[in-house]
Parts: sequence; structure tokens; C-alpha cells
Amino acid sequence: MWFLHVLSLLLLSTATFAASLPWHDPHLPGLVAQDGKTLVKGIDWRTPDGHVPIRREVRDLKANYPDIWNVYMLGLRSFQLSEETDPKSYYQIAGIHGRPYKAWEDAQGKSGNPPAGYCTHNGALFGSWHRPYLALYEQELHKHVEDIALRMPSQLIQQYTAAADQFRIPYWDWALGDSGGSVPEVITSPTVDVIGIDGQNQSIPNPLHHFDFHPVLPGDFADKWVNLNTTLRWPTSNAVDAVSQETVFIQNYNDIITMLHNQVSDGYSIASDLNSFSKTYLETAHGWVHNAVGGPDNQAGHMNPIDYSAFDPIFALHHCNVDRLLAIWEAAHPGLDIVPETIDSNMINFWLSQGDTIDTNSDLPPFWKTETTFWKVSEVRDTQIFGYAYPETMNWTFSSADAYGASINSTIARLYSNSARSSLTAGAAGTGAANFNHLLKDNSYTDWNVEIRAARSALKATFIMRFSLVGTFSSDPVTQVGAWHVLMSESHRVAARKVKRTNTLEKQQEGHVSLTSALLTEIAAGHLESLEAVDVVPFLKEKLTWKATMGGTAVPHGELQNITITVSSTQVRIPESADQPLEYSAETTPYPEVTAGKGGGAKV
Ligand SMILES: *[C@@H]1O[C@H](CO)[C@@H](O)[C@H](O)[C@H]1NC(C)=O
Ligand SMILES: *[C@@H]1O[C@H](CO)[C@@H](O)[C@H](O)[C@H]1NC(C)=O
Ligand SMILES: *[C@@H]1O[C@H](CO)[C@@H](O)[C@H](O)[C@H]1NC(C)=O
Ligand SMILES: *[C@@H]1O[C@H](CO)[C@@H](O)[C@H](O)[C@H]1NC(C)=O
Ligand SMILES: *[C@@H]1O[C@H](CO)[C@@H](O)[C@H](O)[C@H]1NC(C)=O
Repeated sequence: MWFLHVLSLLLLSTATFAASLPWHDPHLPGLVAQDGKTLVKGIDWRTPDGHVPIRREVRDLKANYPDIWNVYMLGLRSFQLSEETDPKSYYQIAGIHGRPYKAWEDAQGKSGNPPAGYCTHNGALFGSWHRPYLALYEQELHKHVEDIALRMPSQLIQQYTAAADQFRIPYWDWALGDSGGSVPEVITSPTVDVIGIDGQNQSIPNPLHHFDFHPVLPGDFADKWVNLNTTLRWPTSNAVDAVSQETVFIQNYNDIITMLHNQVSDGYSIASDLNSFSKTYLETAHGWVHNAVGGPDNQAGHMNPIDYSAFDPIFALHHCNVDRLLAIWEAAHPGLDIVPETIDSNMINFWLSQGDTIDTNSDLPPFWKTETTFWKVSEVRDTQIFGYAYPETMNWTFSSADAYGASINSTIARLYSNSARSSLTAGAAGTGAANFNHLLKDNSYTDWNVEIRAARSALKATFIMRFSLVGTFSSDPVTQVGAWHVLMSESHRVAARKVKRTNTLEKQQEGHVSLTSALLTEIAAGHLESLEAVDVVPFLKEKLTWKATMGGTAVPHGELQNITITVSSTQVRIPESADQPLEYSAETTPYPEVTAGKGGGAKV
């Protein structure tokens, strides 16, 4: 099949890419592209009235902007076919995230750090770092999109260059809950219909479905990944001839739609600072998506391990949504910046060492702002710097900062309120849904959550704790209610062995899982009377269970002693106006008896 790709390369890619560059190892003086270091600038094209173009939802882009969609599909395919040794290629940009653990454009790692990629997880830089990362991806993809437009038949050039100017990468909003539907077909279908550069209809391999390595460059990957010549989702095996199972991915996503929605919703409602929103809520939800796409740790596809995830083209759609959810949070909290944090062993990467402090002045390598300086956290807060906004953050369409703030509140209220809100108000609206009106007192209800705290040193590899409700009888199905994901690079194991632990750096990592919507389902099924503690506490005591895995291996309950799992409740008021966010009481009531005596539960 590869010759077909080469053929399409000839048809689609730009004629001249920089000649192959010798690649280099980390920590060695690096080589730089012959046409100069690649700076991250985003895209400078503005609309005639001076505004940035919009990054749109992938289904919206396809349905309503067909010309942009067309040059996007052709441009992405051309980008994927670009010479893999070029720092501006799809392959090299994907390789910034994790493997191959090499310096990109001479952005050197810290000497003494273990080999690792540049991405940051489990820390406050998660959102900030991925913003210029996507801006770089977008600016380089955009060059292919512009190039494709110029290569269309002459009578179509004007139409398609106008579309290419407007092009910005789309996002997949996986946090909408039921109203968002399942996985967009444009992500899972192996081919896509386009108008080619000959002006004719044609079907091409869908560049959102997979990326074909051409090939994996020698020495870049490890283990089974060396031999896989295409990105896989839920592979049928760990063998070289494994194929993707898109239907399993779709099923797994469908199973977590509500959990994802509530995780993001609770982040908007409960998190008091950017670090907490980012780590406890956004990053966890983001991790579920990585797993739902990639598959289980012991038979993973590329989206699962952070070392390979950026090679699957769904990565950009996914992270674009992460960036958007962050941008909406930032717009709702204009004054709040990240709180300084100290790097511990879970956050070490190519350029961060244990004991470093990260704050708003931190550099974000390898994203060069100038020939000698990197973008800093404080400089990437405004997405318009990179030439884009989201449909919800077009602040120039409002007459005042207050009107913009009210619109942001309305976005959060309407798109991202905990699903309990629609359940509790649905019956009243005569929708035929279960009527839960009796559960509301003065428009308030009792909201239930699991809070997890772990000593960070207890988390030695990707850690997943899944919560479920068991049925009354052993034959009854077990209902998944949520999970806590802490993703770690495979190099973390090496890092964890090398670093010296000191007690002053021992920190806690926090997780959160919303229970209310699962409890409402139990009420509707007649298994539970109400959301009041008198009913919920004995119910959860009997039925709430959890399973933990670390690095893909089950962790027995007896070994969870450094992890604390607590169920707590809080009062939530549903405002009259659908444009106002849910109002959470600042007080929470813990019920240690629910989890007491089970691994990770309160000590008895
Ligand atoms: C491509 O296909 C569409 C729908 O099938 C059709 O409307 C359109 O005219 C075709 N375009 C060309 C250039 O053949
Ligand atoms: C990829 O590998 C599979 C399994 O080894 C093989 O059947 C297929 O032809 C290869 N495809 C390409 C594009 O090399
Ligand atoms: C919108 O945001 C940009 C970038 O943050 C800022 O420069 C501009 O002043 C804002 N415009 C309005 C009308 O609020
Ligand atoms: C947005 O919501 C927050 C929290 O509910 C509130 O404090 C703030 O005043 C609202 N902002 C606007 C502009 O309505
Ligand atoms: C829990 O923490 C203690 C103190 O740091 C440590 O000695 C012990 O090995 C840890 N247990 C597990 C299972 O990680």
C-alpha cells in the first residue's frame, strides 16, 4: 500500500520541502532547519474587519463551511505526507509531545533529566503548554491548506484561497453529554469524499481516521510501537497486524458521555482556581477521552500512552476542545492566573526538574517566540495572539466586558451544567422524562461526589481508579459512575527511580467523581428513595465500589493505604434563568462511613 501514499504525496504535497536534516539526540547541540528556526506565531490573517477567524466544532465545520472543510481535508493529508525529517512535518510536530524524546528546533532539555518528551501533565502547565503546541500544529497545517487552495483548477482558486484564509483547526466537543451525540462520523470513517485538486469528486483516506507512518524513523519508538505502520484505536491485538476497532471506541465513548460532561461541568462550578480546574477536572476528563479512543493499557492504541498519542490525528481535535474549555474558564475568571507550583517527580519531563517552580513566568519550550526566547505562560493566555478565537470567546461582538461575562456564564450554564440540572427540571417541562420535582426543595438539591486524594509518590505510573455501583444481586449489571485518571509518561518510571524524594516536596494529587446523575438513575429505577443523606449514605455504603490500576496492573485494595477516598455532599441551587450557572454551596459534608474499611476508605 505504501506506494499509493507516495503517489498521493506527489499529487498533494508541496513541491519543495527542506532537504532531509540529520536528526539529533537530546542534550546534544541541536541542528536547526536550514530556513531558520521555526517560531510559533499562529496565523496572522485577519478578517476584513480586523478579527481573528474562528476554530469551529468539527461537525459544524463540515456541515456549514464545505469549502473550508475541503481544503482542510486535503491540507491535512498533505501535512501528514510531508517529509518526516522536516521539523515542520506532521511527524516531527507529533513527536514533540512524547517519543522520540529528541530536541525539537534545538530546544534543549535540562541536563540530568531522563529522556522524555516536552509535554506537561499532572500540573498547572497542562493547558498553557498545549496552547502554543496546537498553534504550531495549526500554523504548519495552514501552510498546506493554503498551498492546496492555490493548486486547485484556476476557476476555483479564488473560492478556495478565501476558504483557506478562514481556516482554523476544528475541535470535537466531547463534553456536551447526551446532547452532543456519539463520536462524529467524520472521525471514524476510513475515507472521506472531497473535491480534489483536479476539481473532481474523489474519495481519499480520511486524514482524521489514522496517520500512516512513512515509516517510523529508526530508533524513534520503543516496544510494539516500532512495528506499527499506522495509528490504531482499540487494536485487535498487540501484534504488528492488529487493526483498529472503531466500533469499540464508539461504544466506550458512549458509555462515558455523561461522566465526561459532569466532570467538566463540576470543574466550571466547583474549582476555585486555574490549577484545580486544570488538574482535577479538565485533565482527568481529557484522560478518559485518551483511553476511550486508544483502548486499554495492556492492549493500547496510540491515543492511550502520552508518548504516542499526538500521532493519532484525533489528538488535535481532542486537545483543541481542551484548549477551548480552558479558554472559556479563563474568560469566566479574567483575573485568575495559575498559582505557583513546585515540580515533583510526577511532573519531570525533558525540561522540568524536580524542585523547579512553575508559575505565570514559566517558559514553554520548545515553542520559540523569538530566536532565543520561548513563549511564557502569561503570554499565551490570549488566544487571539495566535490568531484564533472560539465561537464562545468572540469578545468583540459584545458591547461591554459585563455583556461578554454574562454570555460566558450563559455558555457554561447552557452547555456545561451538571446533567442533574436537566434531569431535575425535565419532568416539570413535560418532556416525558422522569419527574424528579419532588427532589427539589426551594430549587435546591443535594449533590453527591467522591473526592480522592493521593500522595503523589504513591502514583508511580498511569493510575486509574474506576468507580461503580454494584447491583442488588450478583447477576445485576455494574454501573460505571466515573473514574480518576492520572496519566504519566513511560519515562516516568525511569524518572521516579532517579530522583531523590524529600518530604517537603510530598504533595497530594486530587480527584473528583460526580455521583448525582448515577443516583438519579437509581431513583428512576426505584432502587433509591431520594438524594437525602438518610437514603444515599446506606445505599452507597452497600453499592459503591472501586478498582484501581497502575501502569495497567490491578492494585489490590490492601495497597491503597496512601490514597484517601471520601464521599461528600453539598447543596446546589438551580437558578430560575437557564443562563445562570448552578450555584454550589461552599460547604461540603463528608460521610467517611460510606467508604470506611474498604481500601482507601476512612480508617476504622
Ligand atoms: C460532486 O458530488 C456532489 C454530490 O454528489 C455533486 O453535487 C457535485 O456536483 C459533484 N461535483 C463535481 C465537480 O463533480
Ligand atoms: C502495514 O503493516 C501491515 C501488517 O504488517 C501490512 O499488511 C500493510 O501492508 C502495511 N501497510 C503499509 C502501508 O506499509
Ligand atoms: C477582547 O480580547 C482581546 C484579547 O484578550 C482584548 O485585546 C480586547 O480588548 C477584548 N475586546 C473587547 C471588546 O473586550
Ligand atoms: C457570572 O457568574 C458568576 C458566578 O455565578 C457571578 O459571580 C458573576 O457575577 C457572573 N458574571 C456576569 C457578568 O453576569
Ligand atoms: C505509603 O506511604 C508510606 C510512607 O510514605 C510508604 O512507606 C509506603 O510504602 C506507602 N505504601 C504504598 C503501598 O505505596
